[in-house]
Parts: sequence; structure tokens; C-alpha cells
Amino acid sequence: MNKAYSSKGLIVITGAGQRVGLYCASALLQQGYQLLVSYRKLTAGITALQQAGAHCVAADFTELESMAAFIKALAPYPAIRAIIHNASSWQADLPMQQELTAQSLPEQLQQDAQVFDAMQQIHARAPYLLNRALLPKLLASPNGADIIHLTDFVASVGSSKHQAYAASKAALENLTLSLARQLAPDIKVNAIAPALLMFNESDDEAYRKKALAKSLLAIEPGPDEVLQSILYLLNSKYITGRVLAVDGGRHLKLP
Ligand SMILES: NC(=O)c1ccc[n+]([C@@H]2O[C@H](COP(=O)([O-])OP(=O)(O)OC[C@H]3O[C@@H](n4cnc5c(N)ncnc54)[C@H](OP(=O)(O)O)[C@@H]3O)[C@@H](O)[C@H]2O)c1
Repeated sequence: MNKAYSSKGLIVITGAGQRVGLYCASALLQQGYQLLVSYRKLTAGITALQQAGAHCVAADFTELESMAAFIKALAPYPAIRAIIHNASSWQADLPMQQELTAQSLPEQLQQDAQVFDAMQQIHARAPYLLNRALLPKLLASPNGADIIHLTDFVASVGSSKHQAYAASKAALENLTLSLARQLAPDIKVNAIAPALLMFNESDDEAYRKKALAKSLLAIEPGPDEVLQSILYLLNSKYITGRVLAVDGGRHLKLP
């Protein structure tokens, strides 16, 4: 563990093993912040973060014991400058069955409930529990503190194939409002709602073309857009309870 004092303070990022979380953690570390991050799979990115001085803690936020261990790992740190809730799982809804029978109904309900509960656990329950448990350390931050929730463009418009995911991100946006009200003026609480940031390796050309065409700016912007949004919110003295849209004007790409 790196306990070296950093005048910029400690930033906690959840789900920093890859992509956006990893990019932001590496950049914030380079900028002089102390970093404590969570990961599930031990990736090459986590090994690199560890070597660069970040404190990396394995945690699965669907399990309360694992969450408790993550919170305990923060015990040596007196204060938290910011917590960035990035951990996510983009799970699709299951296909609808045409006709439910007395036999298939219980199984269908159980499978749908599993998807719905998993989405709520990772995107709404985990931030809710972590924010509450870590509140004293956020309040102890000498120059103010930030809570930043990574939500999604679909939280405001819904999604036909990722309904449980979209509903859980909408819940997180609502928590942003409640916490901002509760914690002002000591802690600013904001959300960042991206539309497409990065494709997955498995996305084929047809999918990529269709996804790019959904926004006015029609690019795959990459994780730096989230980093710049985080820095903007960290440096602001007057923004709280807001959802920062990072969506290439997707809200105006109307049929
Ligand atoms: N990428 C985009 O285009 C896009 C668009 C809109 C919004 N967003 C939002 O931006 C954020 C970053 O996106 P991303 O694409 O970089 O996400 P990602 O690649 O899916 O990474 C999310 C991280 O969360 C971790 N995670 C998943 N389930 C977890 C659990 N139960 N407990 C603890 N950690 C868990 C994953 O760890 P493992 O890999 O080890 O499971 C992974 O490292 C997310 O909140 C996402 O919803 C992204």
C-alpha cells in the first residue's frame, strides 16, 4: 500500500481494472492524487496501477461481505477527496417468452429478477452503501469533497434492450439529487452521463456504424471525455446535484 502523503488527497475509483476506470485512475495518479481503486478480475492494468503506487483492492459489490472488506481497506486513510462510482455491468434484458406456462413462469420470474437485482445492486445499491459508509472520511477532507456517479444517457430516455440497466442508472441519478441536497455545502454530488464512449472489442462493423450514427458528433470519443468531466467537477466550486451529459448531442438526433 502506498501511504505517501499527497496534498491533493485520496481519490477512490470503483471498477478500475479496465477501460474508463483504468484510464482515469492512471491519469489522476499521474496528476498527483493518491488512488485507492477496486477491481474484480486482476488485470494487467491493475498490476500497472499497483506498480505506480495505487492501492488496489479486490471487491465484488454485489456481495455485502466483499463491500465491507473494501470499506475496511480504507480505514488507514483519514480523508477522501473524491469517490468516483464507475463500476458497472452492461447486462441486457433476457428475451421475452411468447407464452408463459405454469411450468415456465417461476423460472422466467426468477431469471428476470436476477438481472434486475444485479443491475440495482451494482449501479444503485453499491454507491448508496459506499457513500453512506465513507461519509465521515469525505467530510474530513480539508478542502471539500466530491461524489461522482457514472450514469448513462439511457437513464433519461430509457432503453429497449437494457431496461433493467437503464432503470438502475436512473436510480443512481436520483440518488445524486438526494445526496446533493443532504450533503451541501460540504460535499458536491454530481453525475456524469455518457452516451457511447468506447466500443467493446466484440462489436462488429454494422453495430459500430449504427451506434456512431446515433449522435450528432458521430465519434467514439474514448475515456478522456470522462477524465475531463471529472477534473471539471473536481475543480468546480459551484456545481452540485447536476448530471453532466457527455453524449455528442445524442439528445438532439431526433427522427
Ligand atoms: N463504455 C461506454 O461506451 C459507456 C457508455 C455509457 C456509460 N458508460 C458508463 O461509464 C462507466 C465506465 O464504462 P466502461 O465501459 O469502462 O465499463 P466496463 O468496461 O464495463 O468496466 C466496469 C468495471 O466495473 C467492474 N464491475 C462490474 N461488476 C462489478 C461488481 N459486481 N463489483 C465490482 N466491480 C464490478 C468490472 O470489473 P470486472 O471486469 O472485473 O468484472 C469493470 O472493471 C460505467 O459506469 C458505464 O456504465 C460507459
